Amino acid sequence: QELQMNLEQIEKNGYDHFMLKEIYEQPNVIKDTYRGRLHTDTGLIKMAGVEDNLQKFLNADRILIVACGTSWHAGLVAEYIFEEFTRIPVEVEYASEFRYRNPIINKNDVVIAISQSGETADTLAAIKLAKENGAFVFGVCNVVGSSISRETNAGAYTHAGPEIGVASTKAFTTQITVLTLIALRLANAKGTLTKTDYFRYLQEMELIPQKVEEALQTNDVAKIIASKYKDASNCLYLGRGYNFPVALEGALKLKEISYIHAEGYPAAEMKHGPIALIDEQMPVVIIAPKQEHYDKIVSNIQEIKSRSGKIIAVVTKGDTQVKDLADYVIEIPEVSDALSPLVTTIPLQLLSYHIAVLRECNVDQPRNLAKSVTVE
Ligand code: AGP
Repeated sequence: QELQMNLEQIEKNGYDHFMLKEIYEQPNVIKDTYRGRLHTDTGLIKMAGVEDNLQKFLNADRILIVACGTSWHAGLVAEYIFEEFTRIPVEVEYASEFRYRNPIINKNDVVIAISQSGETADTLAAIKLAKENGAFVFGVCNVVGSSISRETNAGAYTHAGPEIGVASTKAFTTQITVLTLIALRLANAKGTLTKTDYFRYLQEMELIPQKVEEALQTNDVAKIIASKYKDASNCLYLGRGYNFPVALEGALKLKEISYIHAEGYPAAEMKHGPIALIDEQMPVVIIAPKQEHYDKIVSNIQEIKSRSGKIIAVVTKGDTQVKDLADYVIEIPEVSDALSPLVTTIPLQLLSYHIAVLRECNVDQPRNLAKSVTVE
């Protein structure tokens, strides 16, 4: 028992939970994931699985993304990135829905299956269905030799290392890293990004680990906010554009480790119903970095404030406009819209972690959850 405890302590590298260790590993594992693939000096992106199948990607009429849970959220981020960078239409599907709804799958479809464990039954079934219909299936997995990595026609691994915490953190950011590299590779081949933008994104990707490092410095602020809202019974997460999927992911994190009901929403959708929920009992986490349509998200915040909602805002360092309106702000470094999910998700991971700890929940093994859902 004693030895087991010591082994676990060593594996946690001194952190109280695997989840916290994995949150803090993100700068390094994002770097590990683009190392050898991203060459800012030559402007090349080298991923064998993509290069060997480049024509399939370039000729794709559509990219279908199938995944579950956090991996599905990474797929939603990828939809925004792929469509903006490559102009290839993207549809993101819950694997569990896709496999049963007799979906339309054309032979010119490229299917991307995203799975940390590579063992998720619904995702595996979706892959088999797509292959039966003649589609090319590309996997993004974190476990070498996993069922999904063996079932797909090709793929690219995230190099996140073993993710022990049931709540996925570093898998999410490394999945987005891989998907962004693929989108950049295709955009460069198709000329759908200017050379200037292409190189700008390459250079910014190399700066992401240090921007994530900086975002991790918000840990103490997250802890203070957690102490204020740990007893909330509901929470809303709002975001726009690239950060709408991050709002969904932030809500899932809170739900699965603290058992507080939380919901992610596109910020502009508030007035179509959910704003009826707002009162002083309802904390609203809003992702409001300096990005396109920033002014619109500021007016969303004003709408919530006028209904006495409590506002926790993730903002770009130095922001004053949102700061004057919010009850709490968490400041992150400047980052482009397309790469912002890699950074805006960090404070949301920390916030849910600290709330769960304060609620004395089992952070690494939340009730009723398994790390990999290998059954339907
Ligand atoms: C996310 O925090 C959950 N652990 C869960 O939603 C997970 O993302 C989902 O089960 C998919 O798992 P996979 O990436 O291993 O396929």
